[in-house]
Amino acid sequence: MADDLPLLVVDNITVHRGGVPIIENASLTMEAGEFVGIVGPNGGGKSTFVQAILGVLKCHAGSVRLKGHAPMSDEVIGSVAWVSQAAANLPKSVRLTVRELVTLGAMNKRTWFKPRLSQSDAIDEAIEMVGLRDVANRDVNQLSGGQRQRAVIARALASKADFLVLDEPLVGLDRASRNTLLKLLDGFCHEQNKTILMVSHDITAMRQTAHRLIYLEDTVRFDGPPPLFPSLEELASLRGIEDVHGGHHHDHNEAECTHDHSPLAITVGQLKEDE
Ligand SMILES: Nc1ncnc2c1ncn2[C@@H]1O[C@H](COP(=O)(O)OP(=O)(O)OP(=O)(O)O)[C@@H](O)[C@H]1O
Ligand SMILES: [Mg+2]
Repeated sequence: MADDLPLLVVDNITVHRGGVPIIENASLTMEAGEFVGIVGPNGGGKSTFVQAILGVLKCHAGSVRLKGHAPMSDEVIGSVAWVSQAAANLPKSVRLTVRELVTLGAMNKRTWFKPRLSQSDAIDEAIEMVGLRDVANRDVNQLSGGQRQRAVIARALASKADFLVLDEPLVGLDRASRNTLLKLLDGFCHEQNKTILMVSHDITAMRQTAHRLIYLEDTVRFDGPPPLFPSLEELASLRGIEDVHGGHHHDHNEAECTHDHSPLAITVGQLKEDE
């Protein structure tokens, strides 16, 4: 495996769903150890984009390469972990302890029939890393939203994947849990050279944590360091929309937007949508 290759190269991909192009001509390159955040409006194609990167959806045009290989190929399959948008919404009927859930993550083609001792270490380590040791034997359904989210992340960590793809892992978490989770993820990048691609509506959190931000709506419209992320007005012009207030700002709108909402939510709409 060539070490000088970028971890991820998305080259000009077009992705169709139901025969309709959802992503068009989108490109992205990531190096190992980077933390890249993807933001964009609802329906902008963020989940579609990451699913194409994972190889769950096929590209209509262009290509995706992970360390030079096709996604889902034998060479890369164990090195990528996906925490999906609904991952923490585990069915209530499933009774699993935190430890059992994390153990599922450590299973792979090689260990499925023959659990190994080192696997058990990996499970303990992952539980420890997300700070859930005290509740390791508790039913997942009895955890708080933040703890459940961390349990799902521990499952991804136990797989020993070095590329983590997370789709909206912050939804439903309070501010303190968000901060804990973001710090944890940032630590993985710096201390363990893990690579993280994370979709989130929480642009404020992403600005503070990600090393690079992507604004995705049908295609990549911005890709750069958080301090250069476009302003409200620039973003509106990227999307070709106009200020609906014609420059007059109404009090009720301001009142609506003061409460824990990113200013972007006012004009871009839906960009921050927490539940
Ligand atoms: N299975 C599907 N078949 C056809 N179209 C789909 C399918 N899933 C999603 N789409 C469409 O693809 C577009 C992009 O959806 P996607 O879920 O990628 O957006 P998103 O940016 O992740 O949105 P959200 O912020 O709500 O999660 C939407 O217009 C959606 O209706
Ligand atoms: Mg989505």
